[in-house]
Formats: sequence, C-alpha cells, structure tokens
Amino acid sequence: MDELEAILAAAPQEIDATESIKELDELENRLTGRKSVLAELRRSLGNLDEKDRPTMGARLNEAASELNALLTARRRVLERSAEDQLLVDDAVDVTLPGVGSTTGTHHLITQTIDELVDIFLALGYQVADGPEIETSWHNFDALNTPWWHPSRLQSDTMYVDYGDPRDELPLRTHTSPVQARVMVDQDPPVYVVVPGRCYRTDTFDASHSPVFHQIEGLAVAEGITFGDLKGTLLHFAQEYFGKERSIELVPHFFPFTEPSAEMHVSCFSCDGSGCRVCGQSGWIELLGCGMVDPNVFEAVGYDPAAVTGFAFGGGIERIAMVRHGIADIRHFFDNDLRVNRQFV
Ligand code: PHE
Repeated sequence: MDELEAILAAAPQEIDATESIKELDELENRLTGRKSVLAELRRSLGNLDEKDRPTMGARLNEAASELNALLTARRRVLERSAEDQLLVDDAVDVTLPGVGSTTGTHHLITQTIDELVDIFLALGYQVADGPEIETSWHNFDALNTPWWHPSRLQSDTMYVDYGDPRDELPLRTHTSPVQARVMVDQDPPVYVVVPGRCYRTDTFDASHSPVFHQIEGLAVAEGITFGDLKGTLLHFAQEYFGKERSIELVPHFFPFTEPSAEMHVSCFSCDGSGCRVCGQSGWIELLGCGMVDPNVFEAVGYDPAAVTGFAFGGGIERIAMVRHGIADIRHFFDNDLRVNRQFV
C-alpha cells in the first residue's frame, strides 16, 4: 500500500512530463497495466481478511480513477498539440511567389519554314513532301542528272545503299526529288512548295552543315514563262525582306532547269551600296532556279510540248541567316537556349 501511495504521489508530475502519446501509453501501461502495482494489489485482495476487503477495494478503485483522470487529461493535451503541429507543418504560404514554368516556342528553322510557306500558300500553292531516304532515280535520274555526274559520288552524297544506280538509296541532297514525285503522282497544273531536310557529305563549318533544310518551288501549267518565274521570286523577296527589295537573275547551271539562274536579292541592310551583310556586292545570293528542263518532263511522263514550268530551291538556314544576321550555321544545331530564345 505504501508503494501505491508513493506511486500516486509521483504520478501527476510524471504524467505531465510526457511529451508524446507514445510516452504516455508506456506510462499508462506502467501505472495501470497488468504488471502495475495497482493490478498486483487488486489480485491480492482475495488474500485479505474479509473485513479489510471493502476499504482496501474502495481505495484501489479511487486510485485507479485518479490515475485514469490524470492520464485522460494529459492525452487530450498531447492530442491537441499534435494536431496543432500538423497544421503548422502543413501550412501553405499562399503569398510566396510561384515556381514559373517556361513556354516553349518553335525553332527558328520552323518559324522560317512557316513564314516562307505562308507567302506561297497565299499565291495558291500547296505544300508537298517526300522521303528523306530517296531513290537515286528521284534524286538524280529523273532530274536529268546522269549516272556519271560527280555529285552522285559518295564524296558528295550520303547513301543508305550504294553501288548499283538502279537501286541505290541516297539521303536526298536537295528537295528537288519531290518535283519528280509530285509530277509522277498528279497531272498538271502543279503549284507546290516543298520544305524539308536534306543531307550532303559536308563537314560542319560556319556555312556548311551535313544536315540542312531547303524549300523547293514548282509551277507547271500551259504557257508558264521565265517572266512568271521572275515575278514570283520578286514577290517572294518583297514579302520576306521588304517592299523595297529588287532581284536579279544571274545565269547559272542546274541539270534539271534550262535556262537556269541564281537569284540575288538587293541587300536589305545597305540597299545595294555594299556592306558586310552582302560582302560589299550590294546583292545577296539566295537560291537556284530556272525553267523545268524538257528531259525532266519526259522522265515523269509529262508532255514537254504541252506544258512549261519553273522551279526554284534554296537553303532555309541561309535565308534565315541573311534575314536575322546570323553568322554561323552551327547556331541552328547547337541547341543553345541563349540563341534560340532570341527568336521567340
Ligand atoms: N536543287 C538545287 C540545289 O540544291 C536548287 C534548285 C532547285 C535549282 C530548283 C533549280 C531549280 O542547289
């Protein structure tokens, strides 16, 4: 009994000192559990004299409810503070600045393609495309480029399959094979532009990349003239570089056009007087063009006596570099966001 009284005396302080529900559970077990002094005394009640039993029993019940009251009160306090802590831990400060997310944009090449294509869509052209792994027939033969032409060697052209010109598979070296594809597929009139990726055995330097993009144009109908070609290219130059631009067509050679020309645009930076953008010439070389060679019409099954047409093709990187003053073609492929973010 003395031991119980000592336990009761110390209990309030001990209970108050618990810091967690777990600690309190342990203490409760020690004070009132099966192995507690209280339980032991209860078990020994039977050994007492009959007359002592009621007083002793009453005291033990009293002690038990005293302890339970203290334990329950402490449990409430600990539960409340656990909840309070949870609220503090889970608190969200809605005034903190958010984590920004960046919005992507199209790569400058894609933007340039879209802008160029739009100019021609407005003239009634349609967009066509073809495979990047081509047949030698579409890439060369149909375009009046004989088997012995040096551009067909592996020193200029990359091949998936090389050896027999009849079933060679080059990576297309220009978008011009799509001319052949479109004409094989459909009857004239044809008005298409073809933006797409091309490949050549070039080593990377400031103006060369083994992978690059071109845009091709093809117009075939009855009575199309060189004047139509010039008017179309002038319109394009003025839409893309500004209304003040003029163009010149300088004689050139391509196997698949006759006559052929290189198209120059008057320099938008110096207006023709000579500067760094145009290399002091006043003119910027932009693309190749010409009247579709009758041999091409024969190859694709068109009648050269019935239709005429023009074609043009130019490098998209080059067009974008000229327009935006970009000095090195490698910027297009480096994936440096500091460059890409300048063209949003
Ligand atoms: N395919 C030529 C090139 O890659 C460009 C071109 C296209 C020239 C169409 C004439 C007509 O250089």
